[in-house]
Amino acid sequence: MWPTVLIALQIVTHVICHEDAATTPKPKKVLETVMNPAYIPAEEKHGSYWKKSAASTLKSKLKEKTNKNKARNGILFIGDGMSLATVMAARTYAGQLDRGLGEENILEFEKFPVTGLARTYCLDAQVPDSACTATSYLTGVKTKYGVIGLDGNVTRGSCHSQLHKGNWAPSIGQWAIENGLDVGLVTTTRVTHASPAGMYAHVSERNWESDVDVPAECLTLGCRDIAYQLVMDNPGRQFKVILGGGRREFLPNVTGFGNNTGKRVDGVDLTELWHVDKLQKNVSHQYVTDRLELLKVYNSDDLPEYLLGLFNTDHMAYHLKAEDEPTLEEMVEVAIKMLSRNPKGYFLFVEGGRIDHAHHDSLAYLALDETVEYAKAVRKARSLTDESETLIVVSSDHAHTMTVAGYPSRGNDILGVVDTTNGGDGRPYTTISYANGKAASIDTDGLRVDVTKEKGFTERSLDYAYPSLVPLDSETHGGEDVAVFALGPWQHLFTASYDQSVVPHLMAYAMCLTDDQHQNCHQPERLTEAASSAVSVYPYQLLLAQAVISIISCLL
Ligand SMILES: *[C@@H]1O[C@H](CO)[C@@H](O)[C@H](O)[C@H]1NC(C)=O
Ligand SMILES: *[C@@H]1O[C@H](CO)[C@@H](O)[C@H](O)[C@H]1NC(C)=O
Ligand SMILES: *[C@@H]1O[C@H](CO)[C@@H](O)[C@H](O)[C@H]1NC(C)=O
Ligand SMILES: *[C@@H]1O[C@H](CO)[C@@H](O)[C@H](O)[C@H]1NC(C)=O
Ligand SMILES: [Zn+2]
Repeated sequence: MWPTVLIALQIVTHVICHEDAATTPKPKKVLETVMNPAYIPAEEKHGSYWKKSAASTLKSKLKEKTNKNKARNGILFIGDGMSLATVMAARTYAGQLDRGLGEENILEFEKFPVTGLARTYCLDAQVPDSACTATSYLTGVKTKYGVIGLDGNVTRGSCHSQLHKGNWAPSIGQWAIENGLDVGLVTTTRVTHASPAGMYAHVSERNWESDVDVPAECLTLGCRDIAYQLVMDNPGRQFKVILGGGRREFLPNVTGFGNNTGKRVDGVDLTELWHVDKLQKNVSHQYVTDRLELLKVYNSDDLPEYLLGLFNTDHMAYHLKAEDEPTLEEMVEVAIKMLSRNPKGYFLFVEGGRIDHAHHDSLAYLALDETVEYAKAVRKARSLTDESETLIVVSSDHAHTMTVAGYPSRGNDILGVVDTTNGGDGRPYTTISYANGKAASIDTDGLRVDVTKEKGFTERSLDYAYPSLVPLDSETHGGEDVAVFALGPWQHLFTASYDQSVVPHLMAYAMCLTDDQHQNCHQPERLTEAASSAVSVYPYQLLLAQAVISIISCLL
């Protein structure tokens, strides 16, 4: 009897399904997609093109020599939230701005000879945040979610764990200073934000950026906020150059300061204490707050020994929205000029920090533009340094949920809708979408939004939020590995797949910052001429001209 019932059920199911299929439009099968590119470059249609291109790649690979020099300088670039999908979309976007099809474009760091993959999880989290990952790639120690500069023997937000020095994880910035190198940090976020804080802070709670954020009982016990640690404690107070946003974390909460009103309730102006500290050390120093002031310092005959630049009260503005703020590229150029004066070398940390923020708001356009700006900063650093003595590592702290999906044709607008098929619901869909985020793809009527009817999308607003499946206030990080790109001494160490916490150890080994010394660690120190001439050949007249234009446009 049971078999009969089952067969009957199958027949019923078949009939229902068949009727369903008959009443809804049959979606085009995606695998039958016919591509429709505007054009394909003629040379690419010949097999010989690809064979030649592969042969030339092979030739340059065979020419590569193992570089086991001492890395006098090390620069670590982190694109916050720069997943591999972000890299692909950004290169395509930049290529399309350049009037190419896009896909064939290459970002500067993608030209580096060595790549690896880094696993990003935290001690207690499958998908990490920027605090535990900063601890990982700057101190070489994996720790818990939300924690900076402390090992895993920590309870998030516990002042006792923070004060116990046995828990402290010093950063590669500190190792560099202990070896006589100069150290700097550059970011587009608040300089007290999680990633840069990994360079100098030991905090059990990443949100303790100013004293107003620290619970009263923790302040009483002697736990200090991140801004305070940067200015008053080592290694932060030894940094030669600090550039980014976040003025409000340094300034007191008093009215009458104009736009300089800060968040601090301890009445302390940390920018003033920074000044006093440098006075006491009898060292030249300068504090700047906008682009023109920074360029003036850059072009002056005697650079100060110490430079603090806080260009926004909060994070620096997105590059496409910024006014009076330097670009990441300009900040990197100034930092390298500052740091190149030390014959023992330097360590520089650079963060393109707002790729992440744009993604959190599902603002793909801005995320891609910030990635392109980041690549420009890498290009600048490469042009100002010499790969025989400077190791440049470019990576990301964690991924995001943005995907590049569908089967769009070659050259299809990366920020547009897929040109070849609609969704099964008959509506167009964007190539870029998010797994979760603030712009739900399902509308109140239960149907998927038609983006082509949204003004923000059709007018390509910077603030257009790309649709996502799971509605959340803020789009989340992703858990997959991030790429690591390396160029310079010991670049070959960065190949393969490893934990993110390995990155600073490899850099420190190349730079001879640890007890584990390689054969070239005891080369005599070189004069700084190579470095300083590399800087001075750059046409800073260009920057000067830009500054003059800005002044003139102000006057008009
Ligand atoms: C772990 O941290 C606590 C403070 O929170 C400290 O008392 C303890 O000694 C630490 N344990 C180790 C093994 O360092
Ligand atoms: C100062 O801080 C208090 C308490 O956090 C806040 O209510 C007030 O708005 C702040 N004042 C200014 C000028 O920011
Ligand atoms: C503060 O900033 C706002 C917006 O940037 C500007 O309109 C205003 O004039 C500024 N106020 C002062 C006192 O500088
Ligand atoms: C401070 O530095 C200047 C220039 O380097 C030097 O001439 C002066 O003697 C120093 N002053 C003190 C108190 O060390
Ligand atoms: Zn984030």
